[in-house]
Amino acid sequence: MPDRVGPDPQYDVFADEFLEHGRDGLYNAHYDRPACLDLLGGVAGKTVLDAACGPGLYAAELVDRGASVLGFDLSPRMVELSRRRVPAGSFRVHDLAAPLDWLPAESVDLVLFALALEYVDDRVRALAELRRVLRPGGALVLSRLHPTGDWLRHGGNYFEARVIEEVWSRGWHVRYWLSPLEQTCAELREAGFLIERLVEPRPQPEAAAINADAYRRLTSEPTGFLAIRAIPDPR
Ligand SMILES: C[S@@+](CC[C@H](N)C(=O)[O-])C[C@H]1O[C@@H](n2cnc3c(N)ncnc32)[C@H](O)[C@@H]1O
Repeated sequence: MPDRVGPDPQYDVFADEFLEHGRDGLYNAHYDRPACLDLLGGVAGKTVLDAACGPGLYAAELVDRGASVLGFDLSPRMVELSRRRVPAGSFRVHDLAAPLDWLPAESVDLVLFALALEYVDDRVRALAELRRVLRPGGALVLSRLHPTGDWLRHGGNYFEARVIEEVWSRGWHVRYWLSPLEQTCAELREAGFLIERLVEPRPQPEAAAINADAYRRLTSEPTGFLAIRAIPDPR
């Protein structure tokens, strides 16, 4: 297995299915989104950069809450879905591997980077770009797969970062990085961030009615996602 995820827009082929799955499903609507939206705090009147925006589910919620949203994604189909879902937002195709040269330094109040860190090969460089465009006093909110869950599924050496391939329950083929928690913390630090909060979210109570097994597991085991709020290091 090459130790790179590479530039292939993996989500393009199942972008529409992701939208259907993420709109009301337990993992996105009742677990990841509430956690990240809570960490973002009030967004009214703020400019939010939605990095790896997917089909615009976050962007829709942010615009409803009064934010101006700029978004980008590697997958052209995801960008199309975002534009359709959130006409008030501004979306483009962009790979996190490249500099955000269309955004001036210190031009956004908040950056959201939900469930996509795993697909990026040079995470420090990508995070440093997100840091560059954040205004002082701003914050980055990111979520990622919980590394303990990754390790329980794949075994091997927890501390050794590596690229793996999985086929998820809907037949989606995904290639992504497994990496320990300390590596994400170190990458944030190297990119110029200080971690303000780290949460291991639990699904919202109403999620029990959607999928009782997943609800029980995610309320008792570290096998889902985690979320971090980090601020530009002022030192
Ligand atoms: C699990 S989805 C999350 C989408 C959205 N953030 C959400 O939580 O609803 C991961 C997204 O990351 C995008 N992505 C993966 N690699 C990327 C890259 N190098 N640059 C930009 N987007 C990327 C995918 O195309 C996909 O839309």
